[in-house]
Amino acid sequence: MYPIQVCLFSIVLFSYILVEVWSVGLTEDFTWTTINYTWPENGSIAARSGGDENGNFFFNGPTNADSYLSTTQRPTVSTPKSLVTKIPVDYQYVNNIPMGANVWKDKLFVTVPRRRSGIPSTLNYVPLNSPVKHNLPLIPYPNWNINLFPDTSGKGDNIVSVYRIAIDECDRMWLVDTGVIETLGNATKVKQPQLILINLLTDEIIHRVTVPESVLTPRTVFTSVTVDVSKRSCNDAFAYFPDLAGYGLIVFSLELNRFWRVKHNYFYLESTEGDFSIGGYNFQWTDGIFSVEVTEEKPDGFRDLFFHAMAGTHKFKVSTKILRNETLATRSYHGNDITIVGNKGKKFQTSMADMYKPSGILFLNLVNQNALGCWNTQKNLNTISIVHKDDAKMIYPSDVKVSGDRVYVLTNRMPIFIYGKLNYDDVNFRIWSNTVKDAIKDTNCEI
Ligand SMILES: *[C@@H]1O[C@H](CO)[C@@H](O)[C@H](O)[C@H]1NC(C)=O
Ligand SMILES: *[C@@H]1O[C@H](CO)[C@@H](O)[C@H](O)[C@H]1NC(C)=O
Ligand SMILES: *[C@@H]1O[C@H](CO)[C@@H](O)[C@H](O)[C@H]1NC(C)=O
Ligand SMILES: *[C@@H]1O[C@H](CO)[C@@H](O)[C@H](O)[C@H]1NC(C)=O
Repeated sequence: MYPIQVCLFSIVLFSYILVEVWSVGLTEDFTWTTINYTWPENGSIAARSGGDENGNFFFNGPTNADSYLSTTQRPTVSTPKSLVTKIPVDYQYVNNIPMGANVWKDKLFVTVPRRRSGIPSTLNYVPLNSPVKHNLPLIPYPNWNINLFPDTSGKGDNIVSVYRIAIDECDRMWLVDTGVIETLGNATKVKQPQLILINLLTDEIIHRVTVPESVLTPRTVFTSVTVDVSKRSCNDAFAYFPDLAGYGLIVFSLELNRFWRVKHNYFYLESTEGDFSIGGYNFQWTDGIFSVEVTEEKPDGFRDLFFHAMAGTHKFKVSTKILRNETLATRSYHGNDITIVGNKGKKFQTSMADMYKPSGILFLNLVNQNALGCWNTQKNLNTISIVHKDDAKMIYPSDVKVSGDRVYVLTNRMPIFIYGKLNYDDVNFRIWSNTVKDAIKDTNCEI
């Protein structure tokens, strides 16, 4: 009898530990049923009750709209006479789906790409320490004006559409403005894509460079950017942004202010791994290289860069020694430059991933499992573990970022938005977080 009792006891103990693992995972920091915005203070929105007959809202807020209106043709809309400055702001809450999140000091940035009409502002934040955690309105960053569409600058300076942003060691935000308004079945190129750097200490745009046609393809889509820089030399920075539909990787050197495009078959989708089953919908996606992540600097002064296709389950690795050197990066035959790290396994398709550099822990958004996963890059890829899984609340983890010693995840139920209909009385969008240490507790990722 005795041995059996011991055995039962350990089974009970084991399942208790498993339950504990799930409950540690991540916690919900912020939730939204719908995305709304802090409309300009003084200007407020004139027609708060629902806009004009077309549902448009109007600003009379302190923007540089005055100069815009005097120098360019004013959109023709019927506006209440009482308003001083009128900018039609098209806000259709049903289309405002947050895709990216990132943290710097007390700012939690939230991006809303213009994938439909009615997105008032694409780059925004909320105060991380806000006591209000539910349906907190987004604050356009660095200001309202630069987020407005149509353009108010008169020279195409407004930010058109941003998917996800990077924040570097030098207090700078990096983003790729796709320049595209993607209304359903009708993507309109408003301007060439631009790489934009913002100084987070002054909220000023410090660099803006147009991505040259030579590194683009007719299919190019940019939805994320990763920065490779050391605090010692902020100028010697490189940015990598994957072209998920053109199947390439763009490298940007800040010092040279120059872009090049890396080509390789590993950037393509894996034809057998394109099936997804998410939130009750089954579909096939063709997204190739989706996210890249860099390690800490190695003794040779370079980093390893990991990458994966969204429609795929393999993980690949290349040294930044190759990527940073235009000659090496663009040679037509790559030999052993890129290595296959391994196969994550069925259902381990990943949207974004991010690295906790000090200990080489990679966090992966497992879109086909409604989960966040982790992999300790010091160990075999088959030790990949689940950090947190929730088939109701974690549908479509769209972004994951490590900031300091914390990991943040944004989930947004996107497949339901695309293939079905979101219920806007329900919580649809969530920001989750935990310290890296607690998130990986009791998983294979523990050191
Ligand atoms: C708000 O608008 C009113 C009327 O246009 C103006 O007198 C006032 O100075 C504005 N206040 C601020 C803080 O901009
Ligand atoms: C957005 O916020 C404004 C007030 O700031 C409010 O009048 C409006 O109803 C809100 N819309 C949604 C869809 O929450
Ligand atoms: C596509 O969008 C552009 C601008 O948003 C608009 O001018 C054009 O009429 C649209 N085309 C179609 C076919 O809907
Ligand atoms: C790039 O690599 C080539 C070939 O190894 C080398 O000759 C060249 O010096 C490198 N360029 C730079 C800028 O390091």
